[in-house]
Amino acid sequence: MANKKGRVFSGARPTGRQHLGNYLGAVKNYVSLQEEYDCVYCIVDLHALTTLEDFHLLKENTAEMALDWLAAGIRPEESILFVQSHVPQVTELHTILSMFTPLGKLTDLPTFKEKARMHPHNINYGLVGYPVLMAADIALYKADVVPVGIDQESHLEFTREIVRSFNYKTGKQVLVEPQMKTTNYPKVIGTDGVQKMSKSLNNQIELALSDAETAARVMTMVTDPQRTHRNIPGRPEVCNVFTLHHSFTPAANVERIAAECRSAKLGCVDDKKCLAANINKNLVEFRENARRWRKTRITYGTCSPTAPSARGSSPTGRWTKCDRRSGCRKGRRSTMDHRR
Ligand code: TRP
Repeated sequence: MANKKGRVFSGARPTGRQHLGNYLGAVKNYVSLQEEYDCVYCIVDLHALTTLEDFHLLKENTAEMALDWLAAGIRPEESILFVQSHVPQVTELHTILSMFTPLGKLTDLPTFKEKARMHPHNINYGLVGYPVLMAADIALYKADVVPVGIDQESHLEFTREIVRSFNYKTGKQVLVEPQMKTTNYPKVIGTDGVQKMSKSLNNQIELALSDAETAARVMTMVTDPQRTHRNIPGRPEVCNVFTLHHSFTPAANVERIAAECRSAKLGCVDDKKCLAANINKNLVEFRENARRWRKTRITYGTCSPTAPSARGSSPTGRWTKCDRRSGCRKGRRSTMDHRR
């Protein structure tokens, strides 16, 4: 913490193995923020319960997401990576903050309206309170900066308001008003070429695939719909394969690919082969790490509920590696422990 700019907190719902959209849109940024900030990253399993249908997958998805974050470069020696429900005090703060929250503010939020539209048969109490729990996450850990996508802007503004209201009404400046740090990375489109990459739409390319699996997945990607034949010139600006080149292919080659696509010198199949090879090249280290982390059993370290929020104290609630043969007794057992 000594020379760092402040504390970052961010969270994501446990969605299991991470895909290119998760990586480019969030995780890569989480990794680089570690250089400048004291970082706390949370897998928000309680938030997931608001819309969860596959309860039996929750633990598995939590574990798999954590393993991919670690493989991507979240460093547990210096950052805190933890599961939201392991520090139950967040629910206590959520209840307290709820008393400072006008109900209409929650039901007016566009995010609530959208979720209610998507889950008309499950508009539960927790769904309404989702932003209050998110505010509790951020406030409990006294975060200065919260990196999130633009879709979370209304939640962040809500957090700031509730923090101000709490501090004002109690006459104590105990809660920290966080700044939002938007991730500018453009929305990553899935293999269908239309919708945001997402596991639920089955248009994702997972990071931990093998080289061959990645190539097979890239081959299914929809390109410029007008390019129905190899000899028709393509339009890179509407092609999702081309968009992904920007993230995985050296800049000089990207320009050449655009020119050769436009002149129909390069066909979509070869273009996809090139993209797949470059994705694979970029993910070599991630995949080695992912294999290593998956071989290493994980146990949750002791999650001291108070220490992470005590600024300047040493981070707790860490992920710690343990060795099956040593008969680890650290932390509580869960699916993460001694699973394989
Ligand atoms: N609401 C966020 C999302 O859906 C997840 C989240 C929960 C979060 N608590 C948070 C993000 C605290 C940042 C900070 O993406």
